[in-house]
Amino acid sequence: MRSLIDILELSTEEINELISIAVDIIDNPGAYSEKCRGKKLATLFFEPSTRTRLSFEAAMYELGGNVIGFSEASGSSVAKGESVSDTVRAVSCYADIIVMRHPKEGAPLVASMKSISPVINAGDGGHNHPTQTLTDLLTISREKGRLSNMTVGFCGDLKFGRTVHSLISAMSRYDGIKFVLISPDELQIPEYMKQNVLDKIGLEYIETKDIGAVMPTLDILYMTRVQRERFFNEADYVRLKDSYILTPDKLKNAKKDMCVMHPLPRVNEISVAVDDDPRACYFKQVSYGKYIRMALILKLLEVV
Ligand code: NCD
Repeated sequence: MRSLIDILELSTEEINELISIAVDIIDNPGAYSEKCRGKKLATLFFEPSTRTRLSFEAAMYELGGNVIGFSEASGSSVAKGESVSDTVRAVSCYADIIVMRHPKEGAPLVASMKSISPVINAGDGGHNHPTQTLTDLLTISREKGRLSNMTVGFCGDLKFGRTVHSLISAMSRYDGIKFVLISPDELQIPEYMKQNVLDKIGLEYIETKDIGAVMPTLDILYMTRVQRERFFNEADYVRLKDSYILTPDKLKNAKKDMCVMHPLPRVNEISVAVDDDPRACYFKQVSYGKYIRMALILKLLEVV
């Protein structure tokens, strides 16, 4: 039995295999429609979600399986004081695979130690979000035709943005990757990411506040929302929330084939006027998310 808590638990070969399964599902959906017949997926969401939860549910239905779960802790025995470990242990008696999101860093890891079914981390606090990263890697490989030799800009809340941390970890293993980290001083990438990932491998990266100056160098621009729910005080959030707003004007000096990505939800950081630009990839990203999650479910249930 295998869980997925951190993206680095998967080798690059395994990631490539998941990408090719996802591409095969896109090309031949009918061949997969019965693969999970009789299996159940549980979604345990202790934090809000739209895409992650619903894409997992859609993924399981499209594989012929069923879904159980909750989208708010208040509807479960957690509201009575039950520990996350006990909840997950109980649910693993009913479900073949569990998808869990929790505001506490490390909660899905603890849950996976108690569960008798595989546990997938669907986001733990400001820490990791491995299935968004698989979504992002499928998107980049489909849109750019490669995962190596490119300059990737991350912009916004690099401190609390878990999708940023997981994608940097994953991309740092490909050749010829340069990172450009664009944020206000207060929202810079955490020190542990610098020490354990960026500096450890000796990766090339720069930190800057000035998105305009670096725009022409980027192959990917990964925008993120300022993570209001992780701030200690509202005044800091209000001061920082509109630090970056991407507009068609700001894209004028970007490469013609740059990809603008965003894990969504967007608040203000990408103007809706950008949605019609051919470089806007964030809604394509949403649809890739379902296919890579189908591939992941198949792999963890050892169906393919
Ligand atoms: C992200 C998350 O939950 O970390 N959303 C998602 O899963 N697509 C990004 C965010 O909430 O800003």
